[in-house]
Amino acid sequence: MDRFLVEGGHKLKGSVQISGSKNACLPILVASLLTDEPFILHRVPNLRDVRTTLKILTALGKKVTYENGTATIVADGQLKNTLPYELVKQMRASFWVAGPLLARFKSATIPLPGGCALGARPVDIHLKGFERLGATCATEQGNVVLSAQTLQPAKITLRFPSVGATQNLMMCAALIVGETVLENMAKEPEIDDVAAVLTHMGAEVFNDGKGRLVIRGQKQLHGVEHTVVADRIESGSYMLAAAATRGDVRVEGCVPEHNGILLECLQEVGVPLEIGKDYVHVKPYDTPLKPLRIKTAPYPGFATDLQAPWMTLMTLANGASEVDEDIFENRFMHAPELVRMGADIVTEKSVARITGVKSLSGAHVMASDLRGGFALLMAGLCASGMTEIERVYHIDRGYENPEGKLNALGAKVTRYNPDKDDF
Ligand code: UD1
Repeated sequence: MDRFLVEGGHKLKGSVQISGSKNACLPILVASLLTDEPFILHRVPNLRDVRTTLKILTALGKKVTYENGTATIVADGQLKNTLPYELVKQMRASFWVAGPLLARFKSATIPLPGGCALGARPVDIHLKGFERLGATCATEQGNVVLSAQTLQPAKITLRFPSVGATQNLMMCAALIVGETVLENMAKEPEIDDVAAVLTHMGAEVFNDGKGRLVIRGQKQLHGVEHTVVADRIESGSYMLAAAATRGDVRVEGCVPEHNGILLECLQEVGVPLEIGKDYVHVKPYDTPLKPLRIKTAPYPGFATDLQAPWMTLMTLANGASEVDEDIFENRFMHAPELVRMGADIVTEKSVARITGVKSLSGAHVMASDLRGGFALLMAGLCASGMTEIERVYHIDRGYENPEGKLNALGAKVTRYNPDKDDF
């Protein structure tokens, strides 16, 4: 398995181009199951989760090509409505095929999903929604089995604004004739990108921006050509990496308002920013970083996906900070690894208390999840000496070419595989 060797102490400098959003791309790729017409998607990041999704589409009977950031998906005979566990276990978002398959076949069998180990992560909100649309849902031998005589539009109130459930239900409703209303839906920008695609495909989607989404489904949907929105989590991660190294980095091709709270927090702790229409310039500074208390929340709140990289920044603040993780349980797996690098962090239930230290020191650490993995990479960039990070495959799930992008900014990150490479 690949590892990273990081030589710390190099300030990041230059500009970095942001890739298409993983979390928008995955459901949009899956939306290709709603039609037999060609589906062309640009700015598709080359990520492990994207490659898994393309394999899933192939396993379901689509013909897929992926070149230079463009994925083309066309029909290739009969679609299937079951998925092998081998593919689903790699990524929770594989469960998002349930909505389109249910809409097309009135039945689907999907193994219960895997993905980052972030607590229980059930799919009950997805299933409740499918039931409101007329399906019966059963769990049999580790599979979710969905079936329906007919599907009908419905008014569905989500008990929590789940991103995945909102996308799954939107896709299903787009192929059910009539008006489905989702209340308390997620407001993440990735939802807007999915809505734009479904609209281009022929469904009518209206988002009031306050948590109410109306989908006027159609009997048939068309192919589409679409460019994926910028990845706000990758954007935020590079802003944080620049700030932690006290570097001078222009994060380009992003949508700054999608990172609104993060930008405010960065400025509040003393990181100077220049915010443009499609870039954020993180400027160097020599004043001490101020500590800050943050709490994660659904969009537009502080993104849970940026909590771990934020924590790395706060390990270097001048005072005591707090991170309250309110979305996922068990999302502090990076904290003990940061402690091994000299950070002072105490976690208790959903709260991490971080007392800033003067510096971090390189250590041998292990990534346990995607964003926690990037937090360790960031820590390695700031630390004195060498950091070795195991299980880089977590980072590869969601960051396109991280060592290439960081090294172009002056970092010294080397990927190696101890089973294959000599060092
Ligand atoms: C998506 C993102 C992930 C991000 C998360 C929250 C993708 C591919 N992934 O994940 O990067 O961290 O949103 O912003 O887009 N829940 C239930 N029942 C359900 C569904 C969710 O209890 O049926 C709970 C989860 O356990 C979690 C919370 O709701 O505690 C948020 O989950 P959700 O918004 O669904 O996250 P994902 O869509 O899985």
